[in-house]
Amino acid sequence: MTAINTTLKVDDIKPGKALRLVIGGHPIALIKAKNGNLYALDDKCSHGEISLSEGFVDNETIECWAHGAKFSLETGEALTLPAFEPVSRYEVLVENDEIYIEYDAE
Ligand code: FES
Repeated sequence: MTAINTTLKVDDIKPGKALRLVIGGHPIALIKAKNGNLYALDDKCSHGEISLSEGFVDNETIECWAHGAKFSLETGEALTLPAFEPVSRYEVLVENDEIYIEYDAE
């Protein structure tokens, strides 16, 4: 695992919002829950070709705007249908106010 510097600072992302990043050619949704916690999930709904970063964020979940599937921010697990497959999650680290994502380049 390598900690990839996103070049974003903690305040660059608003609570309840998500940003799409591309790391190693791979789209990742960097998500700030309404309570300020940061998470990173694959930026593709497991139900279809939709960016989760365009979805709705609360404290524990992100909801795909297309058909309403909710995913756990902590685990990437699909919590509601129509999605049932999880999405991958990544560790988020903050150092000196900068956001890093643990990503395995393979
Ligand atoms: S594409 Fe996300 S719920 Fe259908």
